[in-house]
Order: sequence, then C-alpha cells, then structure tokens
Amino acid sequence: MRWTSFLPLLLLSAEAAHHKRHYDEQDYYAVHIRSGVDPELVSRQLGMHLEGPLGELDDHYILRAAEKRHEYDHVKTAKRDLQQRRRKREADAGEPHILDHVLLSQKQELHKRFPLVKRRAPSPFAVRQGNAFGAAQADAEAVQEGLAIAKNLSIQDPIFQEQWHLHNTVELGHDINVTGVWQQGITGKNSTVCIVDDGLDMDSDDLRDNYFAEGSYDFNDQVDDPKPRLSDDKHGTRCAGEISAVRNNVCGVGVAYDGKVSGCRILSKVISDADEAIALNYKMQKNQIYSCSWGPPDDGRAMEQPGILIRRAMVNGIQKGRDGLGSIFVFAIGNGAANDDNCNFDGYTNSIYSVSVGGIDRKGLHPYYSEKCSAQLVVTYSSGSGDAIHTTDVGKDLCYVNHGGTSAAGPLVAGIYALMLETNPKLTWRDIQWLTVITAVKIDQESDYQKNEAMGKDFSHQFGYGKADAYALVEAAKTWKNVKPQAWYYSPWLHVNHPIPQGETGLASSFEVTEKMIKDANLARLEHVTVTMNVEHARRGDLSVELKSPTGMVSHIATHRRNDDANSGYIDWTFMSVAHWGESGIGKWTVIVKDTKVNEHSGTFTDWHLKLWGESIDGDKQELLPMPTDHDDDDHDHDQYTTETVSAHTTTVAAPTETGEPEGNPTDHITRPLHPGKPTSTSAQATPTSPLDLGHEEDQQNGTPTPTSTADDSHWLPHIFPTFGVSKKTQIWIYGASALIVLFLVGLCAWIILYRRKKRRMNRDDYGFEMVDHDDFDESASLANGGKKRSRRAGELYDAFAEGSEDEGEAFGLVGDSDEEDDEDEDRRGHVGGAKEERYRDEEPKVEGSDVR
Ligand SMILES: *[C@@H]1O[C@H](CO)[C@@H](O)[C@H](O)[C@H]1NC(C)=O
Ligand SMILES: *[C@@H]1O[C@H](CO)[C@@H](O)[C@H](O)[C@H]1NC(C)=O
Ligand SMILES: *[C@@H]1O[C@H](CO)[C@@H](O)[C@H](O)[C@H]1NC(C)=O
Repeated sequence: MRWTSFLPLLLLSAEAAHHKRHYDEQDYYAVHIRSGVDPELVSRQLGMHLEGPLGELDDHYILRAAEKRHEYDHVKTAKRDLQQRRRKREADAGEPHILDHVLLSQKQELHKRFPLVKRRAPSPFAVRQGNAFGAAQADAEAVQEGLAIAKNLSIQDPIFQEQWHLHNTVELGHDINVTGVWQQGITGKNSTVCIVDDGLDMDSDDLRDNYFAEGSYDFNDQVDDPKPRLSDDKHGTRCAGEISAVRNNVCGVGVAYDGKVSGCRILSKVISDADEAIALNYKMQKNQIYSCSWGPPDDGRAMEQPGILIRRAMVNGIQKGRDGLGSIFVFAIGNGAANDDNCNFDGYTNSIYSVSVGGIDRKGLHPYYSEKCSAQLVVTYSSGSGDAIHTTDVGKDLCYVNHGGTSAAGPLVAGIYALMLETNPKLTWRDIQWLTVITAVKIDQESDYQKNEAMGKDFSHQFGYGKADAYALVEAAKTWKNVKPQAWYYSPWLHVNHPIPQGETGLASSFEVTEKMIKDANLARLEHVTVTMNVEHARRGDLSVELKSPTGMVSHIATHRRNDDANSGYIDWTFMSVAHWGESGIGKWTVIVKDTKVNEHSGTFTDWHLKLWGESIDGDKQELLPMPTDHDDDDHDHDQYTTETVSAHTTTVAAPTETGEPEGNPTDHITRPLHPGKPTSTSAQATPTSPLDLGHEEDQQNGTPTPTSTADDSHWLPHIFPTFGVSKKTQIWIYGASALIVLFLVGLCAWIILYRRKKRRMNRDDYGFEMVDHDDFDESASLANGGKKRSRRAGELYDAFAEGSEDEGEAFGLVGDSDEEDDEDEDRRGHVGGAKEERYRDEEPKVEGSDVR
C-alpha cells in the first residue's frame, strides 16, 4: 500500500482554501478519501491536480481537472472504467485499487439546486424616525433613562435613541434588555461573530474598529476582504451593524459593541457546495458564532436541505470549532409565513445544529412574515408595527432605518450570544441552546401554547419558547455548568405502508420507547427530536404531520402549505422539534399524518424513523456522532418493524394570533395571510381496525405482521383488490394510475437498457442518468460490505432488472477491504415495487441533487 504516504498531506496547508477557482474554465471535484490514503496519489491516478484540503473537513479535498468537460464526471468515469476492466478481468481483481478509497466524490457546480435567499423584510415600509412620531409617543421617563444610560456608558452614537430594540422608550419592555448587561462592562470583548452573507463594509466608520479581517473572506470574488461590491450587497453590513456597530459618533451601537465581527461573502454570486461548506467552517477556532440570515426560498413550495458537504461542515463545526466547544450557528427562521411556509421545510433552520430565530415586532406582536415551526427555539425583535431595526449601512457613515424580516432578528440573538461568550467562554453549542430555552420570556399573546412540563416553559410554534432576554441569558451564562456530551437514540425504521385517509381523520403510527432503550443509549434527557419520514402524496402541500410525545406534547412538525403542489411527497425528509426539550423520551411516540384536503390528491404513509437527541447519562463513555452521509437513513429494510396503525382525530391547535401590521404602507398588506383560528379539541379516537388483505408486499415478504388500518367502507372492485381504504373515485384513480405506471415502467426499463448500452459505447457520462452510474460503480463497495443483496431505490431499474445480477456476482469479493464508510456512496434505500419506483424516479434529480446538480 504505497499510497499511504503522508508527506504531501503535511505540505498542504489551510491556505489552499484561498486558491482561486475558475469554474468557467476548470472542473473541480470535492472528494472524501479514506483516512491515511495520500490524496496526491489519488489525484494523480485521476489525472487531476490536488488543489488542497476542503476547508476544515478531515480527509476531504478539492481536485481540479485538466480540462473542463460539461456533463461529464471525471471521477465517476474513472471508477466505472475500473469496474469494467475488473469485469473483463483486465484489472487485477484481488488487488484493491486506489480509486476504491475515494469514498465520496462530487463535481462542484455553480448552479445550485436552490438559490440562497436573504431573509430581509419582504417589502420596505415607512418607519418612525426621529421626532416624526416616535418621540411624540415616547414615555418621558424612559427617554430620560435612555439618555442616562447613554451618558453612563459614553454612548454618543447619533441614532442610539432610535434603536428601540436596545432601549424602547415607547412600548416599554419591548427591547432585548441589554443595557443592564453593558453596565456590568459586558460588551462583547473577545467574542467574534462571522456574518455569512453578501459582504461586510469593513471601511464603514461604524464597523472598522471591530472588523476582524483574519476571520473574513470573500468567497464570491475570491479576495480577502468581503467588501460589498454589488448595489444590492447591503444586507450583510446591516446585519453586522446590529451586532458590532462601534460605540462612536456614527449611527448606533451593536448589541456587542466591543465584539469583533468578520464577514464571509457568499450570497452575491452562486457558490459551490464545497465553498459554502468551507465558509461555514471558516477560521472556526477564531470565529465563534456564524450569523446566517438566508436560506432556501420562503415561497411555501421549497423543501430543501443543504448538500452533504454543507451538512458535514455543520457537524464539523459543532464538534471541532472553538476547540471542541462547538461553533454556534444562528439562522433566521424565514419570512414565508404569508405563503404558509414553515421552517421545518428548510434544512438549515431545522438542523439540530442551528439556533432558529423568528421575529416579533416593536409591539411584541407576531409579524405577518415570521414563520412558525416546531424547530423554532426563540424570537426577537424585528420589523413590523410601523418600524424596523435601525442599524449601520454600506458607506462611510451611513445608517439604515429599515432593516427587517427575520434577517434582522437572527443577528440580535447572535449579538447576545457574543455577550454570553464574553462572560463564559466555555459554553458549548448545546449549553447555548439550553440557556436559550431556559431564559426565554413568554410572549404575552394568544398562540398555540402548550406547557412543556419538563422545562416548566410554554412552547408555541409561532414564538418558540419566547423572546431572548439579553440580561437573563448573560446572568444564567455566568453560573451555568456545561451539559454532558450529546447522546442519541434511533428507533428502527417503522413501516406503515398505509393509505392516508382524507379529511380530519389522520393516520397514526406509534412506537414505544422503553426505559431500557433510553438507558442503553446513554440518554439522560431530551433536547432535539427528529423524525425522518417517507410519505407518497400527489400534492405535498395537502399534508400535515403531528408528533406526539409520551407526555402528550404535540409538535406540528409539518403543516399544510397551500402553494406546495409537488407530487413527490416526503422522501427521507427529516423534521425537527425542540418542543420536547427536557422530556425523558420514555413511552409511546406517535406520528399522525393528515391529508385534510378532500380532493383527488391522495397518498400513502410509507415509513418513519424517530431520533431522540439529548444529554448523556455518562459523559465519559459517550462517543462523538460520526460524520453524516447521504445514506444514514437508508436502512429501511434492515429493521423490520411494523407499527400499529390507527386512524386518529387529533389536536389541531392553532389559536388566532394578533398579527402586527406595518403601519403607513398599505402595499405591505397585500400578501398578508389570515391566521385561521381553529382551536379544536383532542378527541383521540384510536379505532381498532382490521388488517388489509393486500398491498403490503414488503411486510409479507419479510414475514412481519402487517399494520392495521382504518376499516374500509367502499368496495367497487372484486374483493381481491384492496381498496386502500379510500373512496371509489380515489380507487379508480389508484388502479388507473397503477396500470399506467406498470406500462410506463416496462417501457422505461427497455429504454434505459438501450440508452445505457449506447452511452457505454460513447464512454461518457450523462447528466440525466448519473444515478445509474453512481450506483453502478459503488456496487462493489455495497456488496463487499457484508455481501448483502439489498433492494434499492431510485434509478436502479437498470441494476435491478437488467444486468444487475451479473454485475453483482462479479463485483462481489473483488474489493477486499472495506469499512463502513464505503456505505456513503452507495444507494441502498429502498423497495422495488411499481408505485414506489415510479415515485422515486420522478424525484430522482432532487433526491440525489447534491451530486446531480
Ligand atoms: C454608571 O456607571 C458606573 C460604572 O462606571 C456604575 O457604577 C453606575 O452604577 C452607573 N450608573 C448608572 C445610573 O447606571
Ligand atoms: C431585564 O434586565 C433587568 C436589569 O437591567 C433585570 O432586572 C430584569 O430582570 C431583566 N428581565 C428579565 C426578564 O430577566
Ligand atoms: C481575551 O482572551 C484572551 C485569550 O483567551 C485572554 O487572555 C484575555 O484575558 C481575554 N480578554 C478579556 C477581556 O476577556
């Protein structure tokens, strides 16, 4: 094994991240190589140039191809050629090849599956300025107090008195309560927040003294300073001003006005996943907090998560950033409430590694844009009720009075965290989340509140645990004892495979978590709960999902989205909830899927997978979570576990909430949603039901009991056909569609075989069918890894039906050494069955988008 020479590794330095990349002229690849293997040898084998490490990710590298070739994948082609040579026995089959050590490869492209959108105020509106009408309503005493505070702290910034979010003289108490923290001399010294955005005007007189150049980089223009260059590059600077505007005679002050602020400019052009991953780990020993006020579009249609490199970077950040205490990722929750959007459909905000921050306005009301969701931890002030956040703008000494949307809320929380880290630099990323939950101040407004008994706190999907109070957070941080390391419990995949009834009756599936399971998992108490699930549905937005914990606490992990007409359902999508914080997790967990829209679009609840995350019992024996792969949830068939399925009427808690309106600009109201108030009671009606006769191939094949279902009511076909418990109309639809699907699949198989043969002759990759190749070359790994034949999902029709067995027979045993990481490229989710394949095939480009894009 000659390639295990480490020398070149040592020569690579982090500086390599600064190599300019010319995506127009060159092809770049992100590769993950087995630890200990020399990346130089791998890159030479591939005829590529080793650019250097991929940011801070261990064993990940960037390779550059000698020539640019559109719709061609150098690595996949090389792997496939190797495979072919082995098949023809031209290559030594017994000998592992260096390419077998490439565990993941992704061609880097400058077109993303989804754009990253700034979460600024949906539309600008008139704001209260100066004496126009702010001062008129101000409380005289509060005004005096504001002047005294400024005097005491030597704040001479001209707009400080307008910065109501710091000291509100009109709506008393509606501010982040920070002045008492400053008066203790806690102002962010030694803390550093990185603004990951569209730039940061480090030449502004209001930011220059706090600018941390070393932690900054412009990933868009590939130069050191993230200077705003486009006319629209103002968002990042405004966010930076909220956190770190210098106490001087320019504009106002930041929450942590003696803290450092750096900028990673990523939003001004499209960047590759590799560069985004590098940005989220940029200088992660010095940048402590990453403030991110962007995400997938908030149109109520998008359901997108960051690609695998970015997800790895986030895990890498919380595990290794800040000397192992963990980078703090703060994300704005999203402005799509008017579009029925929900931050659980955004893979950044629903990540357990990010703190998701929503907004309230200066009256403490819910602004029409701020999304609600079970992953929302906390809210803070932003635009609405006729005003917005007053902060620094791009320019020598320019100020801005109209900063808003959840974009403006996130940075205020990031600034408060900077104050906490000054008083207690030893707080871990999870300590920060605990403190946020514990100290959050309940919003005194009607909402879908439920009591979290474990924490003694009320949780609402609209406000999370409430608003962040800087004073309370800093006080609590002073004496906080670190929580023990993170532990987790994963349930098996729970197979449901049952049609979802339409109407108010949901389809429920339960799983009992025993005390032993929790103990064995070393799990003392919960923090985050995630549910990964598969649902087939012809109109995704019709669905909603509730998660009920053993205590009865209900998380609305998915809500109806009127604009979302995707026909893909949920495919291995992970929802997250923070509502169960502090609970034990022991007892019965129930997922209820609902299709409340009675229409021609129906669906089936396939399966789900519960993950409980929290504090460990014994920190010393707790291991670190392995890096995520794209296939962590693929073991659908390994755990044959069928759950009891019942129909259930459940809570739909959605109390009406007063919504703050921006005053003074009627255009702002156009897309304002109605908040339908429909408080209904829980009439949990677990109907004992009869098993279905057909339609559970998978379970029958495996000899496991089939799930029970709702009683059927209409049989228009002979009884050998299942009715799926749906209406005649839907049955006709289902059977009609099935027939079409079968016809279609037969045709498709034939076509794919022909296509593929032709393609092989041409010896080049094809964009549309990358999946097939992808699976093809990784088969050896899959098989070597236990030699188990797994049915698989997605575009493997070719492998499953055509030459599959031959390939597998040959591939088996060719690759001798293999470890679990081999799994990461292989695709082994799945079920071979007409309807499901049809669905997966439809969705293929999306599912595998991280490397098909
Ligand atoms: C002003 O600051 C000093 C410390 O510099 C502090 O002792 C005093 O209590 C402060 N006064 C007010 C009114 O906050
Ligand atoms: C706000 O800060 C003051 C001190 O300035 C403190 O007395 C008060 O308790 C704080 N509010 C909360 C909710 O902690
Ligand atoms: C800042 O951090 C350095 C190094 O960790 C430490 O020596 C110094 O005392 C800190 N300064 C403040 C003001 O906390």
